[in-house]
Amino acid sequence: MIAGTNVVWHQATVTRQRREVQNGHRSVILWFTGLSGAGKSTLAHAVEESLYQLNIRTFVFDGDNVRHGLCSDLCFSDEDREENIRRVGEMSKLIIEAGVIAMTAFISPFRNDRDRVRRLVGDGDYIEIHCRASVDVCESRDVKGLYARARAGEIKNFTGISSPYEEPLNPELVVETGSRPLSECVDQVLSYLKEVSVIEA
Ligand code: ADX
Repeated sequence: MIAGTNVVWHQATVTRQRREVQNGHRSVILWFTGLSGAGKSTLAHAVEESLYQLNIRTFVFDGDNVRHGLCSDLCFSDEDREENIRRVGEMSKLIIEAGVIAMTAFISPFRNDRDRVRRLVGDGDYIEIHCRASVDVCESRDVKGLYARARAGEIKNFTGISSPYEEPLNPELVVETGSRPLSECVDQVLSYLKEVSVIEA
């Protein structure tokens, strides 16, 4: 059954705005996108660690983890990836309503799917961070051994090998996770968050 009829939105008195005031910072989505092995999760968790120490409320959603639960019914066809990103977008919208900074680390290879999330919450609430690392670099790292298996034809539709990755055209931030040290990448994200007043300078 498609929901929508006979369902009435309930208005909260504790609003996002009041939560943001209580927390002392804005809530936004930090959307980390890039190839498998580009360093999205590593960067997101390192940024989270720094924000935690500044008393900022965050939560990281990571592709591999979410696919164990909320999205365990999905595979890697274009349609399943679209549905994966749709769910993560909706979930992140709820998280920012809760006054928390949502950080997502999904390949999210398709521009349309990412742009849909941007439209869902509005420009200012969606900060796209392209974790840029070439296929060569990710493949040479091959932390999970998946590139080798994809090359051997054991994994179909593998991003960067047999399924496309559409690079962001206008991301808020490009971080060179393929070539720069982690600490520098973290600093770059934190500086941006200060620049756009998500956190205090
Ligand atoms: S997304 O394309 O739908 O955004 P997501 O970030 O959730 O992907 O999951 C990517 C992770 O799943 C990769 O880091 C990798 O560990 C694993 N994986 C398994 N099969 C594939 C595949 N065919 N393509 C890409 N990643 C895969």
